[in-house]
Amino acid sequence: MELTSQQINQIRESVDIVDIIGSYLPLVAKGTNFFGVCPFHDDHSPSMSVSRQKQIYRCFSCGAGGNVFSFVMGYENMNFLDAVKFLADKAGIPIQIDSKPLKQKKTSPYYEIYDLALKFYRNNINTAVGKDAKTYLDKRQIGPEIIKEFEIGLSLKNTEMLTKLLLKKNYEPNILKKSGLVNENEKGMHDSYYNRIMFPLWDLEGNVVGFSGRIYQGEDTAKYINTKETEIFKKGELLYNYHRAKREARKTGTVVVMEGFMDVIRAYTIGISNVIATMGTAVTKQQALCIKRMAKEIILCFDGDEAGAKATMACSNELLQMGIVPKIVRLEENLDPDEYILKYGKEQFERKLENPISIMDFKLNYLKQKKDFTNNNDVADYVKLVLKELEKTNDVVLKELTIHKLSEETHLDEAFLKEQLHEQTPKEVVQVVSKPVAKKTKYDVAEKYLIYYMLESPEVIQLYQNHNTYLPTKLYRELAIEIVQYYKSNHSIHVADFMTSIQDKPNMLTLLNEILAIERDDNYTVDEIMDYINVLHEYGVKFQLKHLNELIQMEINPIKKAEIAQKIVEIRKAEMTR
Ligand code: UTP
Ligand code: MN
Repeated sequence: MELTSQQINQIRESVDIVDIIGSYLPLVAKGTNFFGVCPFHDDHSPSMSVSRQKQIYRCFSCGAGGNVFSFVMGYENMNFLDAVKFLADKAGIPIQIDSKPLKQKKTSPYYEIYDLALKFYRNNINTAVGKDAKTYLDKRQIGPEIIKEFEIGLSLKNTEMLTKLLLKKNYEPNILKKSGLVNENEKGMHDSYYNRIMFPLWDLEGNVVGFSGRIYQGEDTAKYINTKETEIFKKGELLYNYHRAKREARKTGTVVVMEGFMDVIRAYTIGISNVIATMGTAVTKQQALCIKRMAKEIILCFDGDEAGAKATMACSNELLQMGIVPKIVRLEENLDPDEYILKYGKEQFERKLENPISIMDFKLNYLKQKKDFTNNNDVADYVKLVLKELEKTNDVVLKELTIHKLSEETHLDEAFLKEQLHEQTPKEVVQVVSKPVAKKTKYDVAEKYLIYYMLESPEVIQLYQNHNTYLPTKLYRELAIEIVQYYKSNHSIHVADFMTSIQDKPNMLTLLNEILAIERDDNYTVDEIMDYINVLHEYGVKFQLKHLNELIQMEINPIKKAEIAQKIVEIRKAEMTR
Protein backbone atom coordinates (compact mmCIF):
# COMPACT_ATOMS: atom_id res chain seq x y z
CA MET A 1 0.00 0.00 0.00
CA GLU A 2 1.19 3.47 -0.75
CA LEU A 3 0.53 6.23 1.72
CA THR A 4 -1.40 9.20 0.43
CA SER A 5 -0.32 12.70 1.30
CA GLN A 6 -3.57 13.07 3.26
CA GLN A 7 -2.61 10.13 5.45
CA ILE A 8 0.87 11.52 5.93
CA ASN A 9 -0.56 14.90 6.91
CA GLN A 10 -2.95 13.20 9.29
CA ILE A 11 -0.05 11.48 11.00
CA ARG A 12 1.78 14.78 11.27
CA GLU A 13 -1.27 16.42 12.79
CA SER A 14 -1.77 13.69 15.32
CA VAL A 15 1.55 14.43 17.01
CA ASP A 16 2.76 17.71 18.44
CA ILE A 17 6.25 18.69 17.37
CA VAL A 18 6.88 20.23 20.79
CA ASP A 19 6.17 16.89 22.50
CA ILE A 20 8.25 14.91 20.03
CA ILE A 21 11.32 17.16 20.13
CA GLY A 22 10.77 17.59 23.87
CA SER A 23 11.07 13.83 24.30
CA TYR A 24 14.62 13.99 22.92
CA LEU A 25 15.89 17.17 24.50
CA PRO A 26 14.77 19.70 27.09
CA LEU A 27 12.76 22.58 25.65
CA VAL A 28 12.12 25.84 27.43
CA ALA A 29 9.15 28.06 26.58
CA LYS A 30 10.01 31.62 25.68
CA GLY A 31 7.25 33.78 24.25
CA THR A 32 5.19 31.75 21.83
CA ASN A 33 8.11 29.49 20.91
CA PHE A 34 10.19 26.81 22.62
CA PHE A 35 13.98 26.69 22.67
CA GLY A 36 16.51 23.89 23.04
CA VAL A 37 20.10 22.89 22.32
CA CYS A 38 20.33 21.91 18.67
CA PRO A 39 21.24 18.21 18.21
CA PHE A 40 22.38 18.72 14.63
CA HIS A 41 25.57 20.56 15.38
CA ASP A 42 27.96 21.00 18.25
CA ASP A 43 25.73 23.42 20.14
CA HIS A 44 26.28 24.84 23.59
CA SER A 45 23.48 27.33 23.99
CA PRO A 46 19.88 26.81 22.93
CA SER A 47 19.90 27.79 19.25
CA MET A 48 16.94 25.74 18.15
CA SER A 49 13.46 27.19 18.25
CA VAL A 50 10.31 25.12 17.94
CA SER A 51 6.96 26.62 17.00
CA ARG A 52 3.85 24.91 18.28
CA GLN A 53 1.60 27.02 16.13
CA LYS A 54 3.47 26.32 12.88
CA GLN A 55 4.66 22.83 13.93
CA ILE A 56 8.17 23.51 12.66
CA TYR A 57 11.64 23.91 14.13
CA ARG A 58 14.71 25.85 13.13
CA CYS A 59 18.25 26.22 14.36
CA PHE A 60 19.58 29.74 14.09
CA SER A 61 23.14 28.57 14.26
CA CYS A 62 23.45 25.68 11.79
CA GLY A 63 20.35 26.36 9.71
CA ALA A 64 18.76 22.95 10.29
CA GLY A 65 15.01 23.18 10.10
CA GLY A 66 11.82 21.48 9.05
CA ASN A 67 8.76 19.71 10.37
CA VAL A 68 8.39 16.79 12.76
CA PHE A 69 9.31 14.27 10.05
CA SER A 70 12.55 16.00 9.19
CA PHE A 71 13.45 16.22 12.85
CA VAL A 72 12.99 12.48 13.37
CA MET A 73 14.80 11.73 10.10
CA GLY A 74 17.77 13.77 11.28
CA TYR A 75 17.78 12.64 14.90
CA GLU A 76 17.13 8.96 14.34
CA ASN A 77 19.04 8.73 11.04
CA MET A 78 15.89 7.49 9.35
CA ASN A 79 14.63 7.87 5.83
CA PHE A 80 11.36 9.66 5.26
CA LEU A 81 9.06 6.64 5.27
CA ASP A 82 10.65 5.17 8.36
CA ALA A 83 10.12 8.48 10.12
CA VAL A 84 6.46 8.53 9.06
CA LYS A 85 6.01 5.00 10.31
CA PHE A 86 7.84 5.76 13.55
CA LEU A 87 5.53 8.70 14.29
CA ALA A 88 2.43 6.81 13.22
CA ASP A 89 3.38 4.17 15.79
CA LYS A 90 3.74 6.86 18.44
CA ALA A 91 0.37 8.31 17.54
CA GLY A 92 -1.19 4.85 17.54
CA ILE A 93 -2.21 5.06 13.90
CA PRO A 94 -1.92 1.66 12.24
CA ILE A 95 -0.29 1.84 8.83
CA GLN A 96 1.08 -0.65 6.38
CA ILE A 97 3.76 0.53 4.04
CA ASP A 98 5.96 -1.15 1.50
CA SER A 99 9.63 -0.85 2.15
CA LYS A 100 10.38 1.43 -0.78
CA PRO A 101 7.24 2.77 -2.48
CA LEU A 102 8.72 6.21 -3.01
CA LYS A 103 11.84 4.88 -4.63
CA GLN A 104 12.47 6.39 -8.02
CA LYS A 105 12.06 4.13 -10.97
CA LYS A 106 15.40 2.97 -12.23
CA THR A 107 15.25 4.34 -15.75
CA SER A 108 18.93 4.36 -16.64
CA PRO A 109 20.03 1.39 -18.78
CA TYR A 110 23.28 1.19 -16.81
CA TYR A 111 21.62 -0.49 -13.83
CA GLU A 112 20.68 -3.50 -15.94
CA ILE A 113 24.03 -3.60 -17.69
CA TYR A 114 25.91 -3.68 -14.40
CA ASP A 115 23.56 -6.29 -12.99
CA LEU A 116 24.21 -8.52 -15.98
CA ALA A 117 27.95 -7.94 -15.74
CA LEU A 118 27.81 -8.70 -12.01
CA LYS A 119 26.23 -12.09 -12.68
CA PHE A 120 28.77 -12.80 -15.39
CA TYR A 121 31.79 -11.90 -13.23
CA ARG A 122 30.45 -13.78 -10.20
CA ASN A 123 29.88 -16.86 -12.25
CA ASN A 124 33.43 -16.80 -13.64
CA ILE A 125 35.10 -16.87 -10.28
CA ASN A 126 33.36 -20.08 -9.40
CA THR A 127 34.41 -21.92 -12.57
CA ALA A 128 37.75 -23.49 -13.54
CA VAL A 129 39.10 -20.19 -14.93
CA GLY A 130 38.60 -18.67 -11.51
CA LYS A 131 40.99 -21.02 -9.78
CA ASP A 132 43.96 -18.65 -9.60
CA ALA A 133 41.80 -15.75 -8.49
CA LYS A 134 40.32 -17.90 -5.73
CA THR A 135 43.80 -18.91 -4.66
CA TYR A 136 44.85 -15.25 -4.56
CA LEU A 137 41.85 -14.32 -2.42
CA ASP A 138 42.41 -17.32 -0.25
CA LYS A 139 45.99 -16.23 0.37
CA ARG A 140 44.63 -12.87 1.46
CA GLN A 141 42.23 -14.74 3.75
CA ILE A 142 39.13 -13.78 1.82
CA GLY A 143 37.00 -16.91 1.95
CA PRO A 144 33.92 -18.05 0.01
CA GLU A 145 31.47 -16.39 2.40
CA ILE A 146 33.05 -12.99 2.01
CA ILE A 147 33.28 -13.47 -1.76
CA LYS A 148 29.57 -14.12 -1.72
CA GLU A 149 28.67 -11.29 0.63
CA PHE A 150 30.61 -8.66 -1.36
CA GLU A 151 29.67 -10.22 -4.68
CA ILE A 152 33.27 -10.44 -5.78
CA GLY A 153 33.82 -11.73 -9.32
CA LEU A 154 36.33 -12.12 -12.12
CA SER A 155 36.78 -10.66 -15.59
CA LEU A 156 38.24 -12.99 -18.21
CA LYS A 157 41.30 -13.30 -20.38
CA ASN A 158 39.08 -14.10 -23.33
CA THR A 159 38.27 -10.51 -24.06
CA GLU A 160 34.91 -10.58 -25.84
CA MET A 161 32.63 -12.72 -23.75
CA LEU A 162 30.87 -10.01 -21.78
CA THR A 163 30.64 -7.69 -24.78
CA LYS A 164 28.93 -10.39 -26.84
CA LEU A 165 26.56 -11.16 -24.04
CA LEU A 166 25.57 -7.51 -23.69
CA LEU A 167 25.26 -6.94 -27.43
CA LYS A 168 22.94 -9.92 -27.63
CA LYS A 169 20.67 -8.11 -25.19
CA ASN A 170 20.42 -5.30 -27.73
CA TYR A 171 22.06 -2.53 -25.75
CA GLU A 172 23.29 0.32 -27.87
CA PRO A 173 27.03 -0.01 -28.51
CA ASN A 174 27.44 3.60 -27.50
CA ILE A 175 25.84 3.02 -24.10
CA LEU A 176 27.97 -0.08 -23.61
CA LYS A 177 31.12 1.91 -24.28
CA LYS A 178 30.04 4.60 -21.87
CA SER A 179 29.40 1.97 -19.21
CA GLY A 180 33.15 1.41 -19.04
CA LEU A 181 32.75 -2.35 -19.46
CA VAL A 182 33.22 -2.39 -23.23
CA ASN A 183 35.92 -0.83 -25.41
CA GLU A 184 36.39 -0.51 -29.14
CA ASN A 185 39.52 -0.70 -31.28
CA GLU A 186 40.35 -1.46 -34.94
CA LYS A 187 39.32 -5.07 -34.44
CA GLY A 188 35.95 -4.19 -33.02
CA MET A 189 34.34 -4.20 -29.61
CA HIS A 190 35.80 -6.11 -26.68
CA ASP A 191 35.66 -6.30 -22.88
CA SER A 192 37.45 -3.48 -21.07
CA TYR A 193 38.46 -5.57 -18.10
CA TYR A 194 41.07 -8.20 -18.72
CA ASN A 195 41.68 -10.76 -16.03
CA ARG A 196 40.96 -8.74 -12.90
CA ILE A 197 39.18 -9.53 -9.68
CA MET A 198 35.99 -7.49 -9.91
CA PHE A 199 34.49 -5.66 -6.93
CA PRO A 200 31.03 -4.21 -7.52
CA LEU A 201 30.49 -0.64 -6.31
CA TRP A 202 27.07 0.27 -4.99
CA ASP A 203 25.29 3.58 -4.76
CA LEU A 204 23.81 4.74 -1.46
CA GLU A 205 20.73 2.61 -2.02
CA GLY A 206 22.60 -0.55 -2.85
CA ASN A 207 22.32 -0.62 -6.64
CA VAL A 208 25.44 -1.70 -8.50
CA VAL A 209 26.63 1.38 -10.39
CA GLY A 210 30.17 0.41 -11.34
CA PHE A 211 33.13 -1.83 -10.64
CA SER A 212 36.66 -1.72 -9.40
CA GLY A 213 38.93 -4.38 -10.86
CA ARG A 214 42.12 -5.50 -9.10
CA ILE A 215 45.10 -7.17 -10.74
CA TYR A 216 46.09 -10.40 -9.07
CA GLN A 217 48.78 -11.76 -11.38
CA GLY A 218 51.87 -9.66 -11.97
CA GLU A 219 52.08 -6.08 -10.81
CA ASP A 220 52.69 -4.25 -14.06
CA THR A 221 49.62 -2.01 -14.44
CA ALA A 222 47.41 0.03 -12.11
CA LYS A 223 46.41 -1.88 -9.00
CA TYR A 224 42.73 -1.01 -9.26
CA ILE A 225 40.83 0.21 -12.30
CA ASN A 226 37.41 1.76 -11.74
CA THR A 227 34.64 2.03 -14.31
CA LYS A 228 34.16 5.48 -15.78
CA GLU A 229 31.75 7.92 -14.23
CA THR A 230 28.24 7.79 -15.67
CA GLU A 231 24.96 9.50 -14.87
CA ILE A 232 24.48 6.94 -12.09
CA PHE A 233 28.09 6.62 -10.91
CA LYS A 234 29.79 9.65 -9.42
CA LYS A 235 32.74 8.63 -7.32
CA GLY A 236 32.45 11.72 -5.13
CA GLU A 237 28.86 10.85 -4.25
CA LEU A 238 29.13 7.31 -3.03
CA LEU A 239 30.74 5.61 -0.10
CA TYR A 240 31.69 1.96 -0.33
CA ASN A 241 29.36 -0.27 1.71
CA TYR A 242 27.13 2.62 2.83
CA HIS A 243 23.88 0.78 2.15
CA ARG A 244 24.87 -2.13 4.37
CA ALA A 245 26.71 -0.22 7.09
CA LYS A 246 23.85 2.23 7.57
CA ARG A 247 21.75 -0.05 9.74
CA GLU A 248 24.58 -1.16 11.99
CA ALA A 249 25.84 2.42 12.32
CA ARG A 250 22.43 3.54 13.46
CA LYS A 251 22.21 0.73 15.96
CA THR A 252 25.64 1.27 17.50
CA GLY A 253 25.68 5.04 17.06
CA THR A 254 29.13 4.79 15.51
CA VAL A 255 30.47 4.63 12.00
CA VAL A 256 34.04 3.79 11.09
CA VAL A 257 35.43 5.39 7.95
CA MET A 258 38.34 3.77 6.10
CA GLU A 259 40.15 4.53 2.86
CA GLY A 260 40.15 1.25 0.93
CA PHE A 261 37.33 -1.15 0.28
CA MET A 262 39.65 -4.06 1.03
CA ASP A 263 39.89 -2.60 4.53
CA VAL A 264 36.11 -2.65 4.83
CA ILE A 265 35.98 -6.22 3.61
CA ARG A 266 38.66 -7.20 6.13
CA ALA A 267 36.71 -5.54 8.94
CA TYR A 268 33.72 -7.70 8.01
CA THR A 269 35.77 -10.84 8.42
CA ILE A 270 36.18 -9.99 12.09
CA GLY A 271 32.55 -8.99 12.54
CA ILE A 272 32.82 -5.22 12.27
CA SER A 273 30.06 -4.06 9.93
CA ASN A 274 29.46 -0.39 10.75
CA VAL A 275 32.23 0.53 8.36
CA ILE A 276 32.48 2.35 5.03
CA ALA A 277 35.28 3.43 2.67
CA THR A 278 36.02 6.66 0.83
CA MET A 279 37.92 4.71 -1.86
CA GLY A 280 41.09 6.69 -1.80
CA THR A 281 39.89 10.08 -2.98
CA ALA A 282 39.49 13.33 -1.08
CA VAL A 283 36.19 13.38 0.76
CA THR A 284 33.63 15.64 -0.90
CA LYS A 285 31.03 17.78 0.86
CA GLN A 286 28.36 15.39 -0.28
CA GLN A 287 30.15 12.39 1.21
CA ALA A 288 30.77 14.27 4.44
CA LEU A 289 27.05 14.98 4.65
CA CYS A 290 26.26 11.29 4.22
CA ILE A 291 28.76 10.32 6.89
CA LYS A 292 27.28 12.92 9.20
CA ARG A 293 23.82 11.42 8.79
CA MET A 294 24.97 7.88 9.57
CA ALA A 295 25.79 8.17 13.23
CA LYS A 296 26.61 10.52 16.06
CA GLU A 297 30.11 9.16 16.58
CA ILE A 298 32.39 9.15 13.56
CA ILE A 299 35.74 7.41 13.70
CA LEU A 300 38.28 7.95 10.97
CA CYS A 301 40.56 4.93 10.64
CA PHE A 302 42.66 5.63 7.56
CA ASP A 303 45.91 4.02 6.44
CA GLY A 304 48.78 4.35 8.92
CA ASP A 305 51.16 5.95 6.43
CA GLU A 306 51.84 9.63 5.77
CA ALA A 307 49.24 9.75 2.98
CA GLY A 308 46.70 8.36 5.41
CA ALA A 309 47.51 11.06 7.96
CA LYS A 310 47.10 13.70 5.30
CA ALA A 311 43.77 12.24 4.22
CA THR A 312 42.65 12.12 7.87
CA MET A 313 43.46 15.80 8.19
CA ALA A 314 41.53 16.70 5.03
CA CYS A 315 38.52 14.56 5.89
CA SER A 316 38.26 15.88 9.44
CA ASN A 317 38.37 19.44 8.20
CA GLU A 318 35.51 18.70 5.82
CA LEU A 319 33.53 17.22 8.71
CA LEU A 320 34.40 20.06 11.08
CA GLN A 321 33.00 22.47 8.51
CA MET A 322 29.70 20.73 9.04
CA GLY A 323 29.91 20.97 12.77
CA ILE A 324 30.94 17.35 13.32
CA VAL A 325 33.93 16.47 15.44
CA PRO A 326 35.30 13.08 14.37
CA LYS A 327 37.51 10.83 16.45
CA ILE A 328 40.72 9.44 15.06
CA VAL A 329 42.44 6.07 15.06
CA ARG A 330 46.03 5.94 13.83
CA LEU A 331 47.64 2.61 13.02
CA GLU A 332 51.30 1.96 13.71
CA GLU A 333 54.01 0.82 11.30
CA ASN A 334 52.30 2.45 8.30
CA LEU A 335 49.81 -0.42 8.23
CA ASP A 336 46.39 -0.09 6.67
CA PRO A 337 43.41 -1.57 8.57
CA ASP A 338 43.53 -4.73 6.45
CA GLU A 339 47.20 -5.34 7.21
CA TYR A 340 46.80 -4.33 10.85
CA ILE A 341 43.98 -6.80 11.44
CA LEU A 342 45.88 -9.60 9.73
CA LYS A 343 49.00 -8.86 11.75
CA TYR A 344 47.56 -8.09 15.19
CA GLY A 345 44.16 -9.76 15.13
CA LYS A 346 40.60 -8.91 16.05
CA GLU A 347 41.00 -8.01 19.72
CA GLN A 348 43.82 -5.58 19.25
CA PHE A 349 42.05 -3.84 16.39
CA GLU A 350 38.88 -3.56 18.45
CA ARG A 351 40.92 -2.00 21.23
CA LYS A 352 42.18 0.58 18.75
CA LEU A 353 38.61 1.43 17.79
CA GLU A 354 37.54 1.64 21.40
CA ASN A 355 40.30 4.12 22.16
CA PRO A 356 40.32 6.72 19.43
CA ILE A 357 42.20 9.97 19.98
CA SER A 358 40.56 13.37 19.84
CA ILE A 359 40.80 15.38 16.68
CA MET A 360 42.91 18.01 18.43
CA ASP A 361 45.40 15.47 19.73
CA PHE A 362 45.67 14.08 16.26
CA LYS A 363 46.23 17.51 14.79
CA LEU A 364 48.83 18.39 17.41
CA ASN A 365 50.73 15.19 16.66
CA TYR A 366 50.42 15.71 12.96
CA LEU A 367 51.64 19.29 13.05
CA LYS A 368 54.45 18.37 15.43
CA GLN A 369 55.91 15.83 13.04
CA LYS A 370 59.28 16.84 11.64
CA LYS A 371 59.41 19.86 13.94
CA ASP A 372 62.52 20.28 16.00
CA PHE A 373 61.54 21.67 19.38
CA THR A 374 65.04 22.90 20.12
CA ASN A 375 64.68 25.21 17.15
CA ASN A 376 62.65 28.33 17.90
CA ASN A 377 61.61 28.81 14.28
CA ASP A 378 60.08 25.35 14.31
CA VAL A 379 58.31 26.01 17.59
CA ALA A 380 56.92 29.30 16.29
CA ASP A 381 55.71 27.56 13.13
CA TYR A 382 54.07 24.88 15.20
CA VAL A 383 52.27 27.37 17.43
CA LYS A 384 50.93 29.28 14.45
CA LEU A 385 49.69 26.12 12.78
CA VAL A 386 47.91 24.94 15.92
CA LEU A 387 46.26 28.32 16.43
CA LYS A 388 45.09 28.23 12.83
CA GLU A 389 43.54 24.82 13.38
CA LEU A 390 41.91 26.02 16.60
CA GLU A 391 40.09 28.71 14.71
CA LYS A 392 38.24 26.03 12.84
CA THR A 393 36.47 24.70 15.89
CA ASN A 394 33.56 26.20 17.78
CA ASP A 395 34.12 23.98 20.76
CA VAL A 396 35.25 26.30 23.55
CA VAL A 397 36.16 23.46 25.91
CA LEU A 398 38.37 21.88 23.29
CA LYS A 399 39.97 25.26 22.65
CA GLU A 400 40.72 25.72 26.32
CA LEU A 401 42.23 22.24 26.65
CA THR A 402 44.35 22.65 23.58
CA ILE A 403 45.69 26.03 24.66
CA HIS A 404 46.63 24.44 27.96
CA LYS A 405 48.46 21.63 26.22
CA LEU A 406 50.15 23.95 23.80
CA SER A 407 51.35 26.10 26.67
CA GLU A 408 52.84 23.06 28.39
CA GLU A 409 54.56 21.94 25.24
CA THR A 410 56.04 25.27 24.27
CA HIS A 411 56.33 26.98 27.69
CA LEU A 412 54.46 29.93 26.29
CA ASP A 413 52.06 31.71 28.59
CA GLU A 414 48.42 30.59 28.23
CA ALA A 415 47.13 34.14 28.30
CA PHE A 416 49.57 35.07 25.56
CA LEU A 417 48.41 32.15 23.39
CA LYS A 418 44.77 33.10 23.87
CA GLU A 419 45.54 36.63 22.87
CA GLN A 420 47.16 35.34 19.69
CA LEU A 421 44.12 33.24 19.00
CA HIS A 422 41.83 36.23 19.24
CA GLU A 423 44.04 38.28 17.02
CA GLN A 424 43.82 35.86 14.16
CA THR A 425 40.78 36.81 12.14
CA PRO A 426 38.05 34.29 12.89
CA LYS A 427 37.02 34.00 9.25
CA GLU A 428 36.65 30.26 9.09
CA VAL A 429 34.61 30.04 12.28
CA VAL A 430 32.11 32.46 10.86
CA GLN A 431 31.80 30.32 7.76
CA VAL A 432 30.93 27.31 9.84
CA VAL A 433 27.97 28.91 11.52
CA SER A 434 26.50 31.18 8.90
CA LYS A 435 26.57 31.40 5.19
CA PRO A 436 27.86 34.61 3.65
CA VAL A 437 25.09 37.18 3.61
CA ALA A 438 23.92 37.71 0.08
CA LYS A 439 23.48 41.30 -1.00
CA LYS A 440 19.96 42.34 -0.21
CA THR A 441 18.03 44.37 -2.73
CA LYS A 442 14.47 45.52 -2.32
CA TYR A 443 13.55 42.80 -4.80
CA ASP A 444 15.08 40.08 -2.63
CA VAL A 445 13.17 41.40 0.32
CA ALA A 446 9.93 41.54 -1.63
CA GLU A 447 10.34 37.97 -2.88
CA LYS A 448 11.07 36.68 0.56
CA TYR A 449 8.21 38.46 2.33
CA LEU A 450 5.73 37.62 -0.37
CA ILE A 451 6.50 33.92 -0.04
CA TYR A 452 6.43 34.20 3.72
CA TYR A 453 2.87 35.47 3.60
CA MET A 454 1.78 33.11 0.82
CA LEU A 455 2.44 30.39 3.37
CA GLU A 456 0.41 32.30 5.94
CA SER A 457 -2.71 32.86 3.95
CA PRO A 458 -4.49 31.76 0.77
CA GLU A 459 -5.52 35.37 0.27
CA VAL A 460 -1.89 36.22 -0.52
CA ILE A 461 -1.64 33.28 -2.90
CA GLN A 462 -4.68 34.73 -4.70
CA LEU A 463 -3.09 38.18 -4.91
CA TYR A 464 0.11 36.64 -6.26
CA GLN A 465 -1.83 34.80 -8.95
CA ASN A 466 -4.20 37.59 -9.90
CA HIS A 467 -1.32 39.93 -10.63
CA ASN A 468 0.73 37.41 -12.61
CA THR A 469 3.62 38.04 -10.30
CA TYR A 470 7.00 36.99 -11.64
CA LEU A 471 9.77 36.44 -9.10
CA PRO A 472 13.21 37.35 -10.48
CA THR A 473 15.20 34.67 -8.62
CA LYS A 474 14.81 31.19 -10.08
CA LEU A 475 14.61 29.22 -6.85
CA TYR A 476 12.15 31.71 -5.28
CA ARG A 477 10.07 31.53 -8.42
CA GLU A 478 10.02 27.74 -8.32
CA LEU A 479 9.07 27.79 -4.68
CA ALA A 480 6.18 30.19 -5.33
CA ILE A 481 4.93 27.99 -8.17
CA GLU A 482 5.18 24.97 -5.89
CA ILE A 483 3.10 26.75 -3.25
CA VAL A 484 0.42 27.67 -5.78
CA GLN A 485 0.26 24.12 -7.07
CA TYR A 486 0.09 22.73 -3.57
CA TYR A 487 -2.76 25.06 -2.73
CA LYS A 488 -4.60 24.20 -5.94
CA SER A 489 -4.58 20.50 -5.21
CA ASN A 490 -5.11 20.67 -1.44
CA HIS A 491 -7.36 23.76 -1.13
CA SER A 492 -5.55 24.71 2.05
CA ILE A 493 -1.98 25.18 3.11
CA HIS A 494 -0.17 24.39 6.33
CA VAL A 495 3.52 25.12 6.25
CA ALA A 496 4.49 21.89 8.01
CA ASP A 497 2.57 19.80 5.46
CA PHE A 498 3.90 21.83 2.61
CA MET A 499 7.39 20.94 3.86
CA THR A 500 6.54 17.26 3.59
CA SER A 501 5.55 17.76 -0.02
CA ILE A 502 8.95 19.19 -0.92
CA GLN A 503 11.02 16.95 1.30
CA ASP A 504 12.89 15.49 -1.68
CA LYS A 505 13.90 18.94 -2.90
CA PRO A 506 16.72 19.95 -0.57
CA ASN A 507 17.49 23.31 -2.20
CA MET A 508 13.91 24.40 -1.96
CA LEU A 509 13.66 23.22 1.63
CA THR A 510 16.75 25.16 2.58
CA LEU A 511 15.32 28.29 1.01
CA LEU A 512 12.00 27.74 2.73
CA ASN A 513 13.75 27.40 6.08
CA GLU A 514 15.60 30.63 5.44
CA ILE A 515 12.40 32.42 4.62
CA LEU A 516 10.64 31.10 7.70
CA ALA A 517 13.54 32.32 9.81
CA ILE A 518 12.64 35.94 9.15
CA GLU A 519 9.99 35.61 11.88
CA ARG A 520 7.79 38.48 10.79
CA ASP A 521 4.65 39.60 12.45
CA ASP A 522 2.14 37.12 11.08
CA ASN A 523 -0.43 39.83 10.46
CA TYR A 524 -0.17 41.62 7.19
CA THR A 525 -2.20 44.19 5.28
CA VAL A 526 -3.24 43.89 1.66
CA ASP A 527 -1.47 47.20 0.99
CA GLU A 528 1.75 45.71 2.22
CA ILE A 529 1.38 42.67 -0.03
CA MET A 530 0.57 44.92 -2.99
CA ASP A 531 3.76 46.85 -2.29
CA TYR A 532 5.78 43.67 -2.70
CA ILE A 533 3.91 42.69 -5.83
CA ASN A 534 4.42 46.14 -7.34
CA VAL A 535 8.11 46.15 -6.56
CA LEU A 536 8.47 42.78 -8.27
CA HIS A 537 6.40 43.94 -11.20
CA GLU A 538 8.63 46.99 -11.55
CA TYR A 539 11.62 44.66 -11.61
CA GLY A 540 10.03 42.55 -14.33
CA VAL A 541 9.34 45.58 -16.49
CA LYS A 542 12.84 46.96 -16.01
CA PHE A 543 14.26 43.59 -16.93
CA GLN A 544 12.11 43.30 -20.02
CA LEU A 545 12.99 46.80 -21.19
CA LYS A 546 16.66 46.18 -20.65
CA HIS A 547 16.46 43.04 -22.69
CA LEU A 548 14.57 44.75 -25.53
CA ASN A 549 17.02 47.64 -25.57
CA GLU A 550 19.85 45.19 -25.95
CA LEU A 551 18.03 43.50 -28.80
CA ILE A 552 17.40 46.74 -30.61
CA GLN A 553 21.09 47.64 -30.42
CA MET A 554 22.08 44.41 -32.06
CA GLU A 555 19.32 44.26 -34.67
CA ILE A 556 20.31 45.39 -38.17
CA ASN A 557 17.08 44.61 -40.00
CA PRO A 558 15.15 47.95 -39.91
CA ILE A 559 11.73 46.27 -39.95
CA LYS A 560 12.55 44.08 -36.97
CA LYS A 561 14.12 47.07 -35.24
CA ALA A 562 10.85 48.94 -35.62
CA GLU A 563 8.92 45.99 -34.20
CA ILE A 564 11.06 45.93 -31.10
CA ALA A 565 10.70 49.70 -30.72
CA GLN A 566 6.95 49.27 -30.94
CA LYS A 567 7.04 46.69 -28.16
CA ILE A 568 9.02 49.05 -25.95
CA VAL A 569 6.48 51.80 -26.50
CA GLU A 570 3.63 49.43 -25.63
CA ILE A 571 5.25 48.35 -22.40
CA ARG A 572 5.88 51.99 -21.42
CA LYS A 573 2.28 52.88 -22.21
CA ALA A 574 0.93 49.99 -20.21
CA GLU A 575 3.03 51.13 -17.26
CA MET A 576 1.61 54.67 -17.46
CA THR A 577 -1.96 53.42 -17.27
CA ARG A 578 -1.31 50.85 -14.59
P1 UTP B 1 44.97 1.46 -1.30
O1 UTP B 1 46.17 1.53 -2.16
O2 UTP B 1 45.13 1.81 0.15
O3 UTP B 1 44.33 0.04 -1.49
O4 UTP B 1 43.87 2.37 -1.95
P2 UTP B 1 44.12 -1.12 -0.41
O5 UTP B 1 42.80 -0.94 0.22
O6 UTP B 1 45.29 -1.24 0.48
O7 UTP B 1 44.02 -2.38 -1.40
P3 UTP B 1 44.93 -3.68 -1.39
O8 UTP B 1 45.00 -4.14 0.02
O9 UTP B 1 46.27 -3.29 -1.92
O10 UTP B 1 44.22 -4.63 -2.29
C1 UTP B 1 42.69 2.70 -1.29
C2 UTP B 1 41.57 2.84 -2.26
O11 UTP B 1 41.96 3.71 -3.32
C3 UTP B 1 41.42 3.30 -4.55
C4 UTP B 1 40.63 2.03 -4.28
O12 UTP B 1 39.25 2.34 -4.18
C5 UTP B 1 41.17 1.55 -2.95
O13 UTP B 1 40.18 0.86 -2.21
N1 UTP B 1 42.48 3.00 -5.55
C6 UTP B 1 43.71 2.57 -5.16
C7 UTP B 1 42.20 3.12 -6.88
O14 UTP B 1 41.09 3.51 -7.26
N2 UTP B 1 43.16 2.82 -7.82
C8 UTP B 1 44.41 2.35 -7.46
O15 UTP B 1 45.23 2.06 -8.33
C9 UTP B 1 44.67 2.26 -6.08
MN1 MN C 1 45.75 -2.92 1.67
